[in-house]
Amino acid sequence: MKNLNQKKILLIICGGIAAYKSLDVIRILKKNGSKVKTILTKNAKNFVTPLSIASLSQEKVYTDLFNSENEAEMDHISLSRWADLILIAPATANTISKISFGLTDDLASTVVLASNKKIFIAPAMNVRMWEHQSNKENLKKIKEYGYEIIGPETGEMACGEYGEGKMSEPNSIVKHINNYFKKLDNNQKLRALVTAGPTQEYIDPVRFISNKSSGKQGYEIANSLNENGFETTLISGPTNLNPASGINFIKVKSADEMLEEILNNLPSDVAIFSAAVADFKVKSVESQKIKKNKIFELSLEKNIDILRHISNHNSLRPKLVIGFAAETSSLKKNAKKKLSEKNCDWIIANDISKKGIGFESDFNEVSIFYKNNSEEKFKKMRKSNLAEEIVNRIISQLN
Ligand code: CTP
Repeated sequence: MKNLNQKKILLIICGGIAAYKSLDVIRILKKNGSKVKTILTKNAKNFVTPLSIASLSQEKVYTDLFNSENEAEMDHISLSRWADLILIAPATANTISKISFGLTDDLASTVVLASNKKIFIAPAMNVRMWEHQSNKENLKKIKEYGYEIIGPETGEMACGEYGEGKMSEPNSIVKHINNYFKKLDNNQKLRALVTAGPTQEYIDPVRFISNKSSGKQGYEIANSLNENGFETTLISGPTNLNPASGINFIKVKSADEMLEEILNNLPSDVAIFSAAVADFKVKSVESQKIKKNKIFELSLEKNIDILRHISNHNSLRPKLVIGFAAETSSLKKNAKKKLSEKNCDWIIANDISKKGIGFESDFNEVSIFYKNNSEEKFKKMRKSNLAEEIVNRIISQLN
């Protein structure tokens, strides 16, 4: 598992009988060159000892939130920043519920909430607890937050019952982590460009024409590309959002400025045009504020179609060009028309007349129309989860 070499893993062990298997997780990670720091919850200390973990990991073991010695050396923030990845194995129903509600009453839960890293969770619990509605709800919530669940497996449990809830085998957990780093290492060679938000087309120094786009979907796609190792540039019209750190972030106002910045930042392997570019701009922008006693007609001209321009560019066209289509009727027909007229590879289309999705919402419901004439429909989901689905498809296409 060569992608684990020199990777920094923060392992959180919770109080369950499966905790003994975590020693094997540490052993395999170490064998493959990873550095492992471990946090033990209070209950975990009933199953494994700090001494055995310290000897295996050859690192200090962290247990308490308020320990003057530990806090001085490495506090909960530095611990979560140190890690390339956090693994919670075994994760008990209690810890899963704490994460789902954002509770921070010990070092483990505080580190998780303070983390900006990928978090993998390997649950282990009795089958009834695993199947309990409240556990299911908590898992659904934490998956939406972007946590990745490994397992559990079905089998005979320590309590004698049989069913789903056994922690995955250490080797399979570590393989999962290796695959994550492998994807990241491969993608590091790839460049992505994303446009997002509305554009503002000025009439005079204080007035402009714009639209309702919040930019959320584009920012989520940029964040997900960035998390997956892409060198990501986000070119955005005015929004209230902040991109994740690590993204090359460029703010623009008008469609003309957006095109200029796109050209400055190509070539790229993939470009995703999610911006709601204004179709028209004002023919001549007044340099002084227009007074209300002046009767005037607004004369507009078409903005350049950025997506079409880049899709047809001889030298700068990215390998994969993805456009969006915001429609209020005839979704399929209009999306397919845009796909062929704009010469892009995929069109991600949504029906913006539907309530609770699209503009300004945290949710989206889209179909992807591919160049080979196929269509893939997605159910209504959070924009962050849809971004992951889109990025997974981008990765398979580029690799
Ligand atoms: N787009 C663009 N430049 C424009 C207008 C749109 O690059 N001047 C891109 C958008 O970023 C999106 C796609 O084209 O990826 C489709 O945008 P949409 O607003 O749905 O369609 P339009 O081309 O503007 O067509 P219409 O408004 O007639 O539906």
